Amino acid sequence: MTLPSKDTPVTTRDFLSWKSQGRKIVTVTAYDALFGRLVDEAGVDCVLVGDSVNQVLAGEPSTLSATLEQMIYHARAVRRGVKRALVVVDLPFLSYQVSREEAVRNAGRVMKETGAQAVKLEGGAAMAPTVSALVEIGIPVMGHLGLTPQSVHALGGYRVQGREVETARRIESDAAALESAGVFSIVLELVPAALAGKITAARGVPTIGIGAGAGCDGQVLVLPDLLGLNDGFAPKFLKRYASLADQVRDAVGRFGDEVRGGAYPDADHSF
Ligand code: KIV
Repeated sequence: MTLPSKDTPVTTRDFLSWKSQGRKIVTVTAYDALFGRLVDEAGVDCVLVGDSVNQVLAGEPSTLSATLEQMIYHARAVRRGVKRALVVVDLPFLSYQVSREEAVRNAGRVMKETGAQAVKLEGGAAMAPTVSALVEIGIPVMGHLGLTPQSVHALGGYRVQGREVETARRIESDAAALESAGVFSIVLELVPAALAGKITAARGVPTIGIGAGAGCDGQVLVLPDLLGLNDGFAPKFLKRYASLADQVRDAVGRFGDEVRGGAYPDADHSF
């Protein structure tokens, strides 16, 4: 099994060889240089500048109002912090669906202005010609199937996708269409584990799961969820690896107490 050294930047080709080696691909989101650096130092393979930034950091109710400028701003910051991991940027809603020309121009701007190595877009067979157009001009594309948050209103909410035979078949054929169009990997979000495992076995490109069970070739979590910073959000698939929201409240509360009580700043913290 070839593991890239700490100094060798991850490429989309690594994704493909890791799938054939059975080496799991570790992905988290990041939205700024500080956390980009920390997750890169922690050894993740891929940093996704997700349009989830619009909900998690900007406080919007969905990803729908995320803009291209917003994604470029966050991706530039992340790119400054990340040395090794592959940086993938979400194309926001309406930046790639209107026409192939707009998709090429907008994805091209992301690549030119951020230094990221790939883009991600949502959708299956209907998006295949757009994926091909991007891949043909040298832009690597990650697909996204299952619960596609930019279609939350059409899907009737943030619900598991593919429980019914017909929907499951459609997700399977969408995955095949994306692979034929040239994606280097596919995110499977909120999909039953058995279906995700079946798609993973059938496809030559890696699947990255979120709420899609252990059979995927890799896993992705939204960083503030993983860190327990976004403590109001508790879906079944989420495992928290820290409780940072509690630590933030405690630390800032103690700072406030010390300022009000005159204990900070003391002589040790003054000039
Ligand atoms: O925007 C995002 O963070 C994502 C992940 C949930 C995969 O698309």
